[in-house]
Amino acid sequence: MTAETLLKVDNLKVSFKTYAGEVQSVRGINFEVKKGECLGIVGESGCGKSVTSQAIMQLLKTPPAMYKEGNIVFEGEDLLKKSEKEMQKVRGNSISMIFQDPMTSLNPTQKIGKQIAEVLREHKNISKAEAYAEAEKMLELVSMPEPKKRMNQYPHEFSGGMRQRAMIAMALACRPKLIIADEPTTALDVTVQAQILELLQKVQKEIGMSIIMITHDLGVVAKMCDRVAVMYAGQIVEQGSVEAIFNRPSHPYTKGLLSAVPSMEMDRSKALTTIPGTPPDLFAPPAGCGFYARCNKAMKVCQNHMPQMQMIDGELTSACWLNHPMCPAQNRND
Ligand SMILES: Nc1ncnc2c1ncn2[C@@H]1O[C@H](COP(=O)(O)OP(=O)(O)O)[C@@H](O)[C@H]1O
Ligand code: SF4
Ligand SMILES: [Mg+2]
Repeated sequence: MTAETLLKVDNLKVSFKTYAGEVQSVRGINFEVKKGECLGIVGESGCGKSVTSQAIMQLLKTPPAMYKEGNIVFEGEDLLKKSEKEMQKVRGNSISMIFQDPMTSLNPTQKIGKQIAEVLREHKNISKAEAYAEAEKMLELVSMPEPKKRMNQYPHEFSGGMRQRAMIAMALACRPKLIIADEPTTALDVTVQAQILELLQKVQKEIGMSIIMITHDLGVVAKMCDRVAVMYAGQIVEQGSVEAIFNRPSHPYTKGLLSAVPSMEMDRSKALTTIPGTPPDLFAPPAGCGFYARCNKAMKVCQNHMPQMQMIDGELTSACWLNHPMCPAQNRND
């Protein structure tokens, strides 16, 4: 762990106990978030993105959730070893979350100003008047029109985009070092989505925080992120700089995801290519590569042997048997 590292997730495994057996939602993932950077986590629905973010925040109920292995080290301390009381000092203070649905964090029965002020008073030793003044400043920071008036309104008096801004103002109130955004713009129309992403970028610069941007939208990654981790079936299959992932992806799943993205020039009405097939059952995940059943490059070795993460170059790591030095070169060609 270098001095620049803010968060290090190390071999994290999370399962859920259900009546049908154990779902292995997160199967040994490793990643780091450096100070000031934006890391994207991408992958299809159900691959473990939200479970990963909720694990970092310790928001999963145990049981049914079980932390089977691993560490989540934030500023040198393992969050998995903290008590609920200790986590309450972290949540909303040094790590905050924003969600697709702002009403996950906003209280419909309280005025916006009061809600933001209360978060501040919970974590900072400040007076009520100071907290209200700071709350109004936060609304200004997220470019809320007429912040003074908005302070005295309830969430239902806001448009969807404005509610999103209010939630972001609340998440940022304590100037967190890390913000985890779980599909924050998925429910918004394209124009509002762009505004919210620009807002996050602006605030990131001002506060100097790190972001984990969870999304299934590679357009969001291209706009926001410095590095990307590609998740599939509870694992990270490829990880690297945005430049490397977009220009020279090595994993067949990443290549499939990228070819499923409409380019700016392409007619958006044209049907998108999607990767045929479905992800494996996480009740009984395959012994080998999780992508085996859908991969057009699959080899015999892939079925029963798990490919290990390998450094492709300084900017890219990937877990695929095609990277093995013994793999015949013709198998790698596109
Ligand atoms: N509380 C739960 N109980 C059982 N299974 C769960 C629970 N939460 C998530 N899962 C399962 O874990 C897997 C990963 O889910 P999730 O992290 O929400 O995916 P996504 O990448 O879409 O955010 C899915 O198979 C999901 O069904
Ligand atoms: S390990 Fe094999 S099945 Fe998995 S992505 Fe690589 S080539 Fe395809
Ligand atoms: Mg999710």
